[in-house]
Amino acid sequence: MSRLHIHSVHPPAPGQDTAAMPLLSSEDGAVIAAELAARGLRFERWPARGELAEGADQEAILSAYAGEIARIQSQGRYPTVDAIRLGPDHPERQALRLKFLAEHTHAEDEVRFFVEGQGLFCLHIGEEVLQVLCTRGDLIGVPAGTRHWFDMGAAPRFTALRFFDNPEGWVAQFTGDDIASRYPLLDPLPEAATA
Ligand SMILES: [Fe+2]
Repeated sequence: MSRLHIHSVHPPAPGQDTAAMPLLSSEDGAVIAAELAARGLRFERWPARGELAEGADQEAILSAYAGEIARIQSQGRYPTVDAIRLGPDHPERQALRLKFLAEHTHAEDEVRFFVEGQGLFCLHIGEEVLQVLCTRGDLIGVPAGTRHWFDMGAAPRFTALRFFDNPEGWVAQFTGDDIASRYPLLDPLPEAATA
């Protein structure tokens, strides 16, 4: 089940743990959508389709969700869509995880629909950090320029549709802010990555 935690960016008082003190915590899809909409983000829960076959390829995934893809693209945005599938045995899972764990922005919107599995989107907006655990059936739209990071966990397992205005423009610009290290992740980082 997807979940939203909203934290303050301000450090907790001595003896208090940032992770334990969200300002808001909700698993209610309507609440999550309203809180994100109030901050300019999109969140929708789409009806779940049947389970994908174990070896489903890009074509099969896109075809299973053709109706939803057409609905998103009918609004005139995101002419390019692809599907990314990542499993816990992926040889580059740790490098792929670390790549997006530091705060960054993109010049393009980041729009993802989770077909399987889960991922944690963390958004730094003004005085708040919003942590959105996206699971199967969730669409999230993060506008260009939003400071954010993403955790797929130590044993990633997700399949997501990715919508692009321009995939060549979807490049991470790192902010250099270490804020991501002060908020909870899906799993602890390996020792070597935190040294
Ligand atoms: Fe990103």
